[in-house]
Amino acid sequence: MIKNSYLLYFLLLLIISNSFAALMQPELPPARAQFSPQQACLLPLAQMRREHGDLLKRSHHLAAVEHRAPAYYLEQCLDCHVIPNPQGKLPVVDSSTHFCQSCHVFVGTKIACFSCHSAQ
Ligand code: HEC
Ligand code: HEC
Ligand code: HEC
Repeated sequence: MIKNSYLLYFLLLLIISNSFAALMQPELPPARAQFSPQQACLLPLAQMRREHGDLLKRSHHLAAVEHRAPAYYLEQCLDCHVIPNPQGKLPVVDSSTHFCQSCHVFVGTKIACFSCHSAQ
């Protein structure tokens, strides 16, 4: 009997923690395509998640300040990640359906890029 109730607690805990895990994920709109059959994004996902902010800021600096060719273009990211909904409309940057914004709202980051750059 005691063993059974432990099992029950364990199962309950499992169910609760799984539903929290589901709540703790931002809902990201899917990309248009994979970068290649082997790789989803331009970089391996863990690296892209960790480094995209710095990479984009470095590219901005190269292009806007040093007038050199940047490694990354915002347009590349948006072409693949910000795609029309079934009604044919592109998500605007302050909506939760915008790829970049959906995650930044979730993690509490604000970026000041789209005042100059198009977000679509
Ligand atoms: C899956 C989550 C996620 C997605 C999607 C995402 N970001 Fe981020 N972004 C982050 C996190 C986390 C940080 C780091 C926040 C921090 O260090 O304060 C960040 C930081 C940044 C920064 C640096 C901000 C700063 O002040 O240093 C830029 C720029 C940026 N993201 C641009 C983008 C763009 C553009 C897109 C869409 C193409 C995008 N991000 C999509 C999670 C995401
Ligand atoms: C004051 C206006 C302004 C702001 C704000 C700004 N940029 Fe830029 N950015 C430029 C200009 C000007 C260039 C160089 C000309 C060009 O390539 O469009 C540039 C170039 C870039 C490039 C390389 C070329 C391209 O078009 O994608 C990237 C990547 C970029 N910026 C990312 C960012 C990111 C990320 C932020 C926010 C952290 C940001 N920029 C904020 C004006 C701005
Ligand atoms: C050819 C399409 C393509 C391009 C271009 C692209 N991505 Fe991705 N990216 C993907 C795919 C596919 C995924 C996996 C998630 C999905 O299926 O939506 C992904 C995942 C990500 C993630 C992680 C999301 C998560 O699940 O946590 C971030 C952050 C990201 N991309 C940022 C960028 C940035 C920034 C750029 C531009 C420098 C970019 N991507 C360019 C296709 C692309």
